[in-house]
Amino acid sequence: MKIRVLGAGAGGGFPQWNCNCHNCHRIRHGDMQGRSRTQSSIAVSADGSRWVLFNASPDIRSQLEAFPDAWPKTGVRDSGIKAIVLIDSQIDHTTGLLMLRESTVPLEIYCSEMVRQDLTSGFPLFTMLQHYCGVNQHELPLDGDAFTIPGIDGLRFYSHSLKSIAPPYSPRRHHPQDGDNIGVIVEDLSSGKRLYYAPGLGEIEPHVLAAMQSVDCLLVDGTFWVNDEMGRAGICDKRALDLGHLPQSGPGGMMEVLGTIPGPRKILIHINNTNPILDDASPERQQLDTVGIEVAYDGLEINL
Ligand code: MLT
Ligand code: MN
Ligand code: ZN
Repeated sequence: MKIRVLGAGAGGGFPQWNCNCHNCHRIRHGDMQGRSRTQSSIAVSADGSRWVLFNASPDIRSQLEAFPDAWPKTGVRDSGIKAIVLIDSQIDHTTGLLMLRESTVPLEIYCSEMVRQDLTSGFPLFTMLQHYCGVNQHELPLDGDAFTIPGIDGLRFYSHSLKSIAPPYSPRRHHPQDGDNIGVIVEDLSSGKRLYYAPGLGEIEPHVLAAMQSVDCLLVDGTFWVNDEMGRAGICDKRALDLGHLPQSGPGGMMEVLGTIPGPRKILIHINNTNPILDDASPERQQLDTVGIEVAYDGLEINL
């Protein structure tokens, strides 16, 4: 299985257009050892030519141009992207669907019923796309059951609901339900190798831990280092956990959890621009290095 990180940043990307935080300021002025990052998305393929896109970020245009495997190959209209899985209905994971409106065939979109509802109500992207290429929506299992994607031979997928937070425009923002957010295992049927992808993860429930323990590579929520990171940066009072993101540091944090799972390659993704791990030379980044946790970047390729 081939995995391509298209965008490793959280909503807003890095640097964010209006942000002058310690990181955004320094990356703009060349004062930081690190890389800019576009918004959250990956692509996965068994054969390197037919790809499943996970999330459609507002930066999708430049992400696909930077990714030759996605370029059109045959005919006057074509793409290496054959289907799209949506993890949630957040702006950073769905807005790119509008940029795919020129498709000559309906977009094959795999998402939960909750995400479908958000994208036909509070953020009606599916409704809008009916005036362009149209959408074939396929409902995802929420209990860890398997699903397959026609035309994507060689990969099997398993999706489960997990605890994070629905976006502000969702009717369920303050009334969470199964399917607001999901995690997905991708399994290569020939090698048996497995990936777990969960860029928005607020709580390590038993089935989430079991999924993490069952795979060869983890791409999991790396949004915030500490719970009050945005407050400390003088941005706002919203805490990581209020936004559905488990911080990396501290008791019960992502580092502690990953420390109990010796097997898989561990990579953080969906990194917010305030997170000190974006600075390759920071002590926080050194802590991750010491325990073998990587930080995803745009263009990272993983072969499983
Ligand atoms: C999130 O994951 O919490 C979102 O990225 C927030 C946003 O895009 O505004
Ligand atoms: Mn996000
Ligand atoms: Zn910033």
